[in-house]
Amino acid sequence: MVQAKTWILTKHFDGFPKDSDFQLKVEELPAPKDGEVLLEAVFLSVDPYMRPFSRFRMKEGDVMIGSQVAKVVQSNNPAFPVGSHVVGRCGWRSHTVCDGKDLIPIMPDWPQDVSLSLALGGIGMPGLTALSGIEEVLGLQEGETLLVNSAAGAVGSMVGQIAKIKGCKVVGSAGSDAKVAFLKELGFDEAFNYKTVGSLEEALKKASPEGYDCFFENVGGPFSSVAIQQMKTFGRIAVCGAISTYNDTTPQTGPYPHLTMILKQLKMEGFLQGRWEHKQPESLKRLMGWLKEGKLQCREHITRGFEQMPAAFMGILQGENVGKAVVAV
Ligand SMILES: NC(=O)c1ccc[n+]([C@@H]2O[C@H](COP(=O)([O-])OP(=O)(O)OC[C@H]3O[C@@H](n4cnc5c(N)ncnc54)[C@H](OP(=O)(O)O)[C@@H]3O)[C@@H](O)[C@H]2O)c1
Repeated sequence: MVQAKTWILTKHFDGFPKDSDFQLKVEELPAPKDGEVLLEAVFLSVDPYMRPFSRFRMKEGDVMIGSQVAKVVQSNNPAFPVGSHVVGRCGWRSHTVCDGKDLIPIMPDWPQDVSLSLALGGIGMPGLTALSGIEEVLGLQEGETLLVNSAAGAVGSMVGQIAKIKGCKVVGSAGSDAKVAFLKELGFDEAFNYKTVGSLEEALKKASPEGYDCFFENVGGPFSSVAIQQMKTFGRIAVCGAISTYNDTTPQTGPYPHLTMILKQLKMEGFLQGRWEHKQPESLKRLMGWLKEGKLQCREHITRGFEQMPAAFMGILQGENVGKAVVAV
């Protein structure tokens, strides 16, 4: 009999999450039946989407949602041999028994010198999000200028680097001087700390006086209102995230962008990266190729210990991470 540790959402978050909203529980798992496998979590992802999704995808008492890289430790399913690794949406669990339907085997030929944790980061969902936003939503072209906020995070750091690979000028904003230094290291043309610039409008104008062709939006709220004003005519905006609003108890209001959008003839599109699921194997190969060629850096912010899941999750909502936040068991 295997004991699984799980993190339960005991109470729906009201504003910023609290320790008391989570509870660590131990459950006995049955032995895997025919066609089933027993998984052991190796790396677990903490992501901003868990905050808004907890409201409409979960009820109190559910195991927290989330993806993990897991090792197959028992198998009655020939598609998942013992010792192989998978990415699964198992939630915040140390061990899982499942039938393999929703499991994705780690990409074949995953290089030995690349940590499997990157399957939750640059060579996983956040990397795919960056690529889809740039190619499918923005249609970013060589020579264009792109703005990305939350630029030192899992998605943002990939967005900036992919845009550089595509021959663009890249401007990024992040919430600390250390993060700004990291962006410079990644090759961003301009980077600034949005918390310390006196005027966001002036910082955006200084970084690109001629304005922005594309805006990869991760933050929403007041940042968005100011950035939209700096778009060029026919600019395109990919609305990927709105993390500055996720803990709001009452919705933020205006200024409203409509007149600017009309006068500048802007295009704004929200997206979920899963829309291009059919392209994922090819996209992951491309991302891995860039990593191996030294064109991408996939920085990670690793927290050790399954017990630290809530702290790691609350950490990303406070800007503690540089790169992709991952919990190593
Ligand atoms: N549409 C999709 O399919 C999809 C997929 C993945 C992610 N997303 C979205 O993309 C965005 C980035 O996700 P990620 O996984 O890459 O997270 P991340 O950027 O690695 O981590 C979150 C970062 O957001 C910033 N932040 C936190 N609270 C903030 C606030 N109140 N105001 C402004 N910034 C704040 C912090 O950076 P600073 O220190 O720089 O403030 C923090 O480090 C999120 O909005 C997420 O929901 C969307």
